[in-house]
Formats: sequence, structure tokens, C-alpha cells
Amino acid sequence: MKKLCLLGLFVSLASHNVLAATTPAPLENKDAFISNLMKQMTLDEKIGQLRLISIGPEMPRELIRKEIAAGNIGGTFNSITRPENRPMQDAAMRSRLKIPMFFAYDVIHGHRTIFPIPLALASSWDMDAIGLSGRIAAKEASSDGVDLTFAPMVDISRDPRWGRTSEGFGEDTYLVSRIAGVMVKAFQGTGANAADSIMSSVKHFALYGAVEGGRDYNIVDMSPVKMYQDYLPPYRAAIDAGAGGVMVALNSINGVPATANTWLMKDLLRKEWGFKGLAVSDHGAIFELINHGVARDGREAAKLAIKAGIDMSMNDTLYSKELPGLLKAGEIEQSDIDNAVREVLAAKYDMGLFKDPYLRIGKAEDDPADTNADSRLHRAEARDVARRSMVLLKNQNETLPLKKTAKIALVGPLAKAPIDMMGSWAANGRPAQSVTLFDGMTAALGSQSALIYARGANITSDKKMLDYLNFLNFDALEVVDDPRPANVLIDEAVKAAKDADIVVAAVGESRGMSHESSSRTDINIPPNQRELIRALKATGKPLVLVLMNGRPLSILEEKEQADAILETWFTGTEGGNAIADVLFGDYNPSGKLPITIPRSVGQIPTYYNHLSIGRPFTPGKPGNYTSQYLDDTTGPLFPFGFGLSYTDFSLSDMALSSTTLNKTGKLDASVTVKNTGKRDGETVVQLYIQDVTGSMIRPLKELKNFQKVMLKAGEQKVLHFTITEDDLKFYNTQLKYAAEPGKFNVQIGLDSQDVTQQSFELL
Ligand code: NOJ
Repeated sequence: MKKLCLLGLFVSLASHNVLAATTPAPLENKDAFISNLMKQMTLDEKIGQLRLISIGPEMPRELIRKEIAAGNIGGTFNSITRPENRPMQDAAMRSRLKIPMFFAYDVIHGHRTIFPIPLALASSWDMDAIGLSGRIAAKEASSDGVDLTFAPMVDISRDPRWGRTSEGFGEDTYLVSRIAGVMVKAFQGTGANAADSIMSSVKHFALYGAVEGGRDYNIVDMSPVKMYQDYLPPYRAAIDAGAGGVMVALNSINGVPATANTWLMKDLLRKEWGFKGLAVSDHGAIFELINHGVARDGREAAKLAIKAGIDMSMNDTLYSKELPGLLKAGEIEQSDIDNAVREVLAAKYDMGLFKDPYLRIGKAEDDPADTNADSRLHRAEARDVARRSMVLLKNQNETLPLKKTAKIALVGPLAKAPIDMMGSWAANGRPAQSVTLFDGMTAALGSQSALIYARGANITSDKKMLDYLNFLNFDALEVVDDPRPANVLIDEAVKAAKDADIVVAAVGESRGMSHESSSRTDINIPPNQRELIRALKATGKPLVLVLMNGRPLSILEEKEQADAILETWFTGTEGGNAIADVLFGDYNPSGKLPITIPRSVGQIPTYYNHLSIGRPFTPGKPGNYTSQYLDDTTGPLFPFGFGLSYTDFSLSDMALSSTTLNKTGKLDASVTVKNTGKRDGETVVQLYIQDVTGSMIRPLKELKNFQKVMLKAGEQKVLHFTITEDDLKFYNTQLKYAAEPGKFNVQIGLDSQDVTQQSFELL
């Protein structure tokens, strides 16, 4: 039985269903309940609620519990087991008002079972699969006592130099917005107050993916139209789907850091969008206002942040230290603090914690004997989602699928890399539980001796990079680094290749190379691995590249060298099995690129929905004074939306139901899609629209809809897409969101480049 005090009484009685008749502010009435609670809170208790601490070695557990019991902490992140969180919640229940704590964590692509990285999930274009990954993550995290995740990350990324490209869903506003909604609903399930849900705090608000030069934490400078049109909609979609929280970005926007940005946090988020949830700073971001050069000291930083509407301060003590003095001096109002406190309490309410502070922590006797037990994982689901997330980029002469009877040489530094399989934000995944490509292929073949393995190369021969990768892998394994000279490793791999019928090379990046603070100026495969690929090519054996990486890599040379290329990104706990399923044809690949792959770093930014220009370059028609690069072919290496299958698909008979559309009407765009090959398979039929002439320049095309369809060999289906005026709206120079009458081209294709087109007029 919990101890009683005023709030404790509410909690206790509420759980016995007798509250309404006996208390002035029943738990059922959220606003009244919170107002009543706030009336009882001292200033210190209020400010305590605004503090979100990081659980780490710097603060002993004993001290944390003392601070919680004193009402000085509102929530934690990075404590992720029930036995860890329970004593903290017990401490909160010992505090004067017994306000529960919440426990947060970066559950980005899985919790204990690691799913493919978000960029890979987006490659599936499969909303059910993506939703399943989020739902399982929520179930696993909530059953470990986690209440809130800092996810999804919906920052649009058009610059693959940025390491956090791996954490997002790609370059396209429509696709990322769709996924944003799916992920929020998956995390929050039937409601953020459900025992098997976690509250979603969408990030990073805003525009973090547009950091200048792709260098992490750098400035963002962007026109309002571009913001509204391309970069803001995914956050909005997450909020419209009910995200309970927003994490504020570390970057500045047009000269004002997001953390001090009143326009962003108040005018846009709260007033224009009507967001009612919790705004959390990123790690140490309030303090960083001094580095940004907008705050003289911690006091001014705290003032700017609270005034901007940052409710919780993550991992710094500035609010606790500075808010009382600022209030006393009249530099901030009581309402600045109260508004923030109200949001924190409301979020806790919405997470169901006032009703039951132990909702997700449960009882000690029900704790899992081993939190990491394999039986707690969702391996079958992870394997299936991972298979759907890979993109077949090349398959000359039907090199793939592999025959199980063939003698296969498996080489490359990523063939046996359990930690890298899991990807950049592998939460609480255990490398020892992840299936490497070597494990997966061995299992598929039924015997170790079926594979001839040689490492062939290390991840990198750059010592500085290796040290950084190991620094990032702080609590896990070190990146394997074979001390033998590069030529010895290559010779061994060449020998393996010569002894085999076909070579599979697992190459690319270590997971830390596509991570926070891991920007690159060069988006090639590291040079020592490229040497290995050249040597393998020279053997004349068919060469399959299995790419593992968290960003698009400019594999210009490798595209020519390889007979087949499978982009697997980072596939998660079951990655090795899933890749083996695809390589051996037990699953027919169906992924499509959610991001353009550039030919070289010099083409960046690369994205398909570029605005029209006055002197466009027309492929195949080079000429003077067109928009082209002199030293390379214009256009991407692989376009957005591209991906092959082991079967072939054709599109035909595209038709529009009318050549005109009324503002209130509907238009049907239809197309026949046929599986013309010999295997069953899935493909993604994509619908793009171009607004041909507008009051301002419009993109060459914009994704507006898609359908992923399964077709048996020889089967065909007619697909229908509905187009309404809403699909034609855009933000004009006055930021008015409206459609303009005139001609529109509708393009349907299996990627963004190869499309068939019909036109209509909006009346
Ligand atoms: C900093 C990252 O930018 C953010 O995404 C993450 O949620 C926090 N650290 C907490 O780990």
C-alpha cells in the first residue's frame, strides 16, 4: 500500500475507484487536477519538475534518489530496467507531493530487439512493417519501465555528409510525414497512458537535417517557404498524430538557436499548430546558448529558454540554479515557470503516471529474471521487417539470388561485425544477440564449411577514425581491427575468391561513421575497402556487394565493378538472417530508396524534387549554358524511389478519369501494374505531381501517394489513386497554403525518374 499524503491520497483512491466523490479535483478531470496540484507546489518543487537528468556515472544513484525525494527532479533518461527505475519512483513517492517521475530513453529503431535503422525502415515503404517495428519497440521499452522515447526523428536530410541521415527517414517530405504519423501511433498505441505504450517526443524541432555543409550541430539558414513546404511538415504530421512531446533541435535557425527561438516554439508550434504537449531541450542545449553567442551566461541562457517555451531542461542545472533569481528580479514571470510545469505534469498525466506511477515498472516479483534474455526478443518480426528494408541496386545477369550449391567466398570487414549490424541508435540491443552476415549465411547453408571466409580489409586504415569509432562504442565491443598488413588481408581474400564460384563482399561503414557528430566530407567506401573490392574484381569471379552503411555512399566505381549490389543499411538484431534470406532468394527484395544516391559528394545537396530552373540540363542533350557539372554526368547515381526485384514489373494504361478537376472534386489516376517475370514479388508504385506553372517556382515533381503491391508471377492489377485539391496545395511567397488553378502533370513510376505522364487542369 502506498503511503498517503494529499496527492498520494488521490493516487491511492483513484486506483480504488472511489476518488470522484471524496476529492475536490478528481483525477478524471485533468485540468482541474493539475491546477489543484500546482496550487500546492512550492517554487522549488515547480522548478524541480523542469529538470530532466541523464543517468550516468557522474551522479551516484544515492544522490539521485535523495534529489528525487526532495522534489528536485522531474524525469530521467538512460535508466532502462524496472529494478533501476523502481527505487527512483519509490523516492518520488516519498517526496512531499508524490509527483511521479517519468523515465525516458532514445528508443529509435528498437529497444532490446533492434530493427533496421530508420533510413532502412523508410526504404521498405511498408507502413505496416514500420508500424510493427515501433509497436514492438514500445512494448519492449514499456515492459522495462520506460515511459517516453525521444523519437521519431523526422528531420528531412538531403545531405548525406550528415551522419544523422541514418536516424531519419530520408529526403522526401511526403514519405517522411507518412512515416512520422505511423511511428507516433505505433509508439503510443491505444494511448500514451496505456501500459504497453510509450509517449513519443518527436525530434529535432526544427530543421536539424539542414545543417550547413552536413556538419553536425552547424547553423541552418533557410527561406520560410522552404521550411513550410519541405522541412516542417513531418514534425507537424507527428504532432497531428498525437505526439505528446517535442525535442528541440541543437541548431540555430536563421540566426536564432532553436532553444531560444520564440517564433519557433511559441508562434509556430503552440499558436499556429496548436501543440499542447511537452517541449524538452536537447542534451545541454540551454547551456550551449552561451556558445551560440546569444546568452552572456547561464542566467541569460535560462531566461531565453524559459521565455521561448522550453519546458524541460535536459542534463543541465541551469533552470534550478537560475530561475528563482530571475523570477525574484522580475526578469521572468511566474507564468513562464507555471506554463512549463503545467506541460510536464500534463505529460505525466497523459502517460498514465498519476493514476499509477508504477504502470510500466510493475511489481518486483514480476521483473524478468534476465532483462536481456533472448526469449524477450522479437526475432521473427525483426527478420521480416529487415528483409523488407533492403534495396537491390544492381543485379546483372541474374547474379542474385545465390545458389545454395555454389562455393561462396564471404569477405569484408562487415561480414562478422555484430555491433555494426545493429546500427547507429541501437538502444539496448546486445551485440552478442545480433546475427552477423556470416552467421545468417551459415545458417541458410546449414554448415560453416559451405563458406570460405576471409576478412579482406579492416573498416578503415585511418587511425583517427578508428579511435573515434571505438570512443562511440563506449560500453560495447571495440571495432574489430585485424593487425595484419592491408596487403596480407587482401591476398587472403583474393585466394578465397579464387577458390570460390562467387564472391560476396560485405563492405561499407562501421555504425559509428553514420551517427551523431559523425559527419564526413567523403561519402565513399573507405579507401582500404575499395582496394579490396578492386582486387576481388580482378579475380574475374562474379562479385556481389552487400553494403552496410547509414548514409548514401557514392559508389560510382563499385557500381561498375560489382555484378550485384544489395543496399542493406544497418539491419538490426536479425540482420544476418534477413540478408541471407534476400541473397538466397527466400525473400524477393522490394525496397526502394527513400533518399537519392549521389555520384559524388560534389553533387550535394541531392534530392529529386528540385525547383524548376531557367536553364535546365536535359540528359542526353548536352549544350552550352545549361545547369550542369563540367566534370561529371549530371543526375544521381541512383534516383529517389529506385529499387530492383528478382522479378520484373511493368506499368501500362495510365489514365486520368478527367482532364479537369474542380476545387471540390476528385480525380482518379489509374495504372496497370504487371509482374512480367517468373517470381512472385512486391513493388512500390509511386505517384508524383508537377504544378507546371505557379505564382512561384514549383518543384519538378513531388511524391503525393504510393502503393506497395504484391503480385504473383504473371499477375497484373489496376491501381487507383485519388487526387484532390489538397494534393495540389503549396505555401506561396506569402506563406498562404492554397492550390492555384492551371495545368498539373501526374507522373506514375516505379522510381522518381522513369515515369509515364498525363495532365489535367485545376479549374
Ligand atoms: C542528443 C541527441 O541530439 C538527441 O537526439 C538525444 O535524444 C539526446 N542526446 C539524448 O540521448
